[in-house]
Order: sequence, then C-alpha cells, then structure tokens
Amino acid sequence: MKALVHQRYGDPAEVLTVEAVDRPEPRAGEVLVRVAAVPLSGTDWHLVRGLPYVARFATGLTRPRNRFFGLELAGTVEAVGPGVTTLHPGDEVFGWHAGTCAEYVAVPEQQLVPKPANLTLAEAAAVPISAFTAIQALRAATGRRLLISGASGGVGTYAVQLAKAQGAEVTGICSPAKADLVRGLGADHVLDHTRDEFGGGRTFDSLIDVFGNPSLKDCGRVIEPGGTLVLVGGSGGKWFMGVDRWLRAVLTAPFRRFKPKVLVHRDSRDDLLALKDLIEDGKVRPVLDRVYPLDQVPTAIEDVRRGDVRGQAVISLAVPPAPRP
Ligand SMILES: NC(=O)c1ccc[n+]([C@@H]2O[C@H](COP(=O)([O-])OP(=O)(O)OC[C@H]3O[C@@H](n4cnc5c(N)ncnc54)[C@H](OP(=O)(O)O)[C@@H]3O)[C@@H](O)[C@H]2O)c1
Repeated sequence: MKALVHQRYGDPAEVLTVEAVDRPEPRAGEVLVRVAAVPLSGTDWHLVRGLPYVARFATGLTRPRNRFFGLELAGTVEAVGPGVTTLHPGDEVFGWHAGTCAEYVAVPEQQLVPKPANLTLAEAAAVPISAFTAIQALRAATGRRLLISGASGGVGTYAVQLAKAQGAEVTGICSPAKADLVRGLGADHVLDHTRDEFGGGRTFDSLIDVFGNPSLKDCGRVIEPGGTLVLVGGSGGKWFMGVDRWLRAVLTAPFRRFKPKVLVHRDSRDDLLALKDLIEDGKVRPVLDRVYPLDQVPTAIEDVRRGDVRGQAVISLAVPPAPRP
C-alpha cells in the first residue's frame, strides 16, 4: 500500500515522500481502516519542518517520531482485531491516530467514532483536531462577548460556529477575502487583520487568540477586566514561535487584569461524540475548501500556509475496496 513518509525535518517538497509499505494487520482492540481522507491544518507546515525547535521535545528531537504523516482520518472499516465490539467491516468512521496518511491504518477502537450521517468522508476527516481545539477553547473562555482571531481557518471556523450555537456575540478576525465566509458562519461582526485596529475599538469578555500574533498589551486593551485570554496559536521566531509569549502571559498573570489560559488541545472521544451530535443537528459544519491527491501534499501545505484555503483542506486517499476473501 501507499503511505506518506516523513523521516526528517525540512521543506515539505523534499522530506515528504510517497512510498510503498506493508499493510498493517489489526491487533487486539484495533480496527483496520481503509483511509478515505486526512486533513491538513495550519500546524502541518510547522510539524514537517520541526518548528518551533522547542516543539521537537514532543515531536522528536532529531527526526520525526511518527514515520508517517497525518494525525486524523476518515474512512471505512476494512477489518477488526480480536476484542473489537462496537465497529464492523463496512462502517464509515472518523477519528485520530499518529501516522494516518496511508491507504490503510490500524487504529485503537476508542479513537474512532461512526462518522456524522450528513457528512461525506472528506468532510468528516476535517473535524477531529481542529474542532477539539475549538470546543476546548470555548470551554476555557468566559462571558458572552467573544473576539476570535484566525476565524477563517481550521480552528476558527469551528470556534465561530460553536460560539454562536452557545448564544455568544462573536467578532471574528480574518482577511478581507474571507469576511463573507466568517459572516456566513454566523459571526456578528468581522474585522480585517490587514486594515482594522485590533479589536475594532471594542472590548470583549474573552479573546480566543487562534492566530497568535497580538502583543499581550494589545490583548489587555481589548479584554474587559476579569476577562479571559485563551492562547491557542503562536507565530514568529524559529525557536519558540509564540511559546515564549504563552510563558510570559502565564508568568505575568498576577499583574494583569485578564486571566491568560494556554490551550493545548486534548484528543477526546467524548468531544468527538459531542461534535458528531452538533453536526447531525445542523449546528456546526466543516468548511471544506479543497481536496488534494496524495502526491500534492507539499503544495497543499504551502497553500494552507499562504492563506489560499478558505476553511480547511484534505488529502484524498480513496482506494478501491480490497476483494473480500
Ligand atoms: N493549541 C493547540 O492545541 C492547537 C491546536 C490546533 C492548532 N493550533 C494552532 O492554531 C493556529 C491556527 O491553526 P489552524 O489550523 O486554524 O490554521 P489555518 O487554517 O491556517 O488558519 C489560520 C488563520 O489565521 C488567520 N491569519 C493569518 N494571518 C493573520 C494575521 N496577521 N492576523 C490575524 N489572523 C491571521 C487566517 O486568516 P486569513 O487566511 O483570512 O488571513 C486564518 O483564519 C496554528 O498556529 C496552529 O498551530 C493550536
């Protein structure tokens, strides 16, 4: 079978290679999934390059810890290992696992959930980590008036919809080309990060900082006293890329009028089930802009990085079903 191999850090076009590898066999408690799609996100550009360097403590110091690219998937159950009780061959599922960008992947049963009935497999692939991050960022936020930076990307498009589903008043920050998208997701106000003053001259109960570029001083200016800054993303510098700003926010918290909370998302079966319900109830939907073939992943990563993608992109791995014995 084909898989996207990532054996060293560097430029995506140089270090990501499509290779023929052995198909895995599902062990006890595992499900063999025929992968249909794997999402790309704003994090992939960093993961492939191993940036910021400080993140290599988690991803592998000298080379990527995961030999195969991809952390999420949607696909069809091909076979199940001993002890698997909830899923069966033919079920369409979505979930998370390290190294999903391969035609077949063996995934622990607990990391898969039946896909929402009203989504295609490509759309379902775009849900897990971006939506986990958004749902957990909203739990960390306080109050009703929310400012969401990076509102037009993978995490932001879920954050806007989930916030509106909770009855929040939402102001989203994005580029002018995507203002219509963010308004269409329900945002009450949209600010242009290329032109408008940060916060648009208003104040908010919470700032969910997905893109991660405003100074802590600017954050303090737009958050009401006692409000919350949820730090999700980071930008700038190869060594820390915003992690230093997270640290400064936490260390200086006693002297600030707002509460900083660093969000490191947690993969969660309960959240995936909750998101499935919200999607099937029509309250949230993935914004899937583009589907790329496996051999165009480096191009896709650069397109996401440049902001050419509205919402999310996925890689298609659709392979014909294997003949049944
Ligand atoms: N903490 C966690 O657990 C966690 C989990 C997932 C992701 N993340 C991080 O969250 C960040 C976003 O991820 P993503 O997948 O949503 O990325 P993405 O899909 O590439 O979206 C990036 C967003 O940032 C916006 N943006 C670009 N330049 C901006 C600027 N100068 N000012 C304000 N906004 C700007 C983009 O808007 P336009 O395209 O409209 O310009 C877009 O909405 C990344 O840093 C990622 O690593 C963190």
